[in-house]
Amino acid sequence: MRVLNFGSLNYDHVYEVDHFTQPKETQSSLSYIRNFGGKGLNQSIALAKAGLSVFHAGKVGNDGQDFIDYLNRYHVDTKYLVKDDGQATGHAIIEICDSQNRIILHGGANQDIGKQQIDETLADFSNKDVLLVQNEISNMAYLIDKAHEKGMFIAFNTAPMNEKVFSYPLEKVDLFIVNEIEGAGLAGIDSDDLGTIIEALKKKYPDKKIVLTAGELGSYYIDASQVIHQDIYKVEAVDTTAAGDTFTGYFLASYLHDGDVKKALDRAAKASSITVQGRGAAQSIPEADQL
Ligand code: RIB
Repeated sequence: MRVLNFGSLNYDHVYEVDHFTQPKETQSSLSYIRNFGGKGLNQSIALAKAGLSVFHAGKVGNDGQDFIDYLNRYHVDTKYLVKDDGQATGHAIIEICDSQNRIILHGGANQDIGKQQIDETLADFSNKDVLLVQNEISNMAYLIDKAHEKGMFIAFNTAPMNEKVFSYPLEKVDLFIVNEIEGAGLAGIDSDDLGTIIEALKKKYPDKKIVLTAGELGSYYIDASQVIHQDIYKVEAVDTTAAGDTFTGYFLASYLHDGDVKKALDRAAKASSITVQGRGAAQSIPEADQL
């Protein structure tokens, strides 16, 4: 079994601020740093640090060689990562205040992934392999369709959740990974009550596996026969960026290793509790021995 993560790569421009910038306001940042990020890249790094061998497919622009080097440093295979000199690498503007973040995305090369690149990449994968996707690249519906045609196991982290998700062939997804807001969106309900969200997800996707993270309230695994809860590990958070990506990578790596859901939730909870204690995205994801 091999894991193909087809996902975004962003330069994260991170500004620590006194308060989130208000309409009509100009404020100076307290600090600035540029990091490697993108939900796709972060999740590949998490999978690799968790010990899985992972292929990252995607697209960067003329300034994207550093991403290839960075992924290679963590033994992520970048043979399906295209460098297109006519594009700009995706980027994110991130405000950090009191450990919370606000993120503006510019897709850039992530939104220029075409059907040909998808076909050429998937040609090397089979029904023994796993596809992981997030919602930050173009041609998602085509990608899910084609991976399903091949019989791949498909895991979909629906972040960032938007209306486009409902234009994808969701019936072909095997495992959804969502937070509570994405879970409510995916279930098509307007509620922040966790019990209501879980019931609505079970009803709408009775044959799917679903992992739901709920911040302080921990995380859940839901399928037709069971709901399993995992508490958080309480820590002092300084920056929650990439906590969800860490959870996704560590959950998937452990789950694919031995199918033990409880263990996978526990490892994912531990790993993301470490991520929130560091600043930045990919760089704050722990190595497996830190757990
Ligand atoms: O999940 C965090 C990531 O979301 C950041 O690294 C940013 O690039 C956005 O994709």
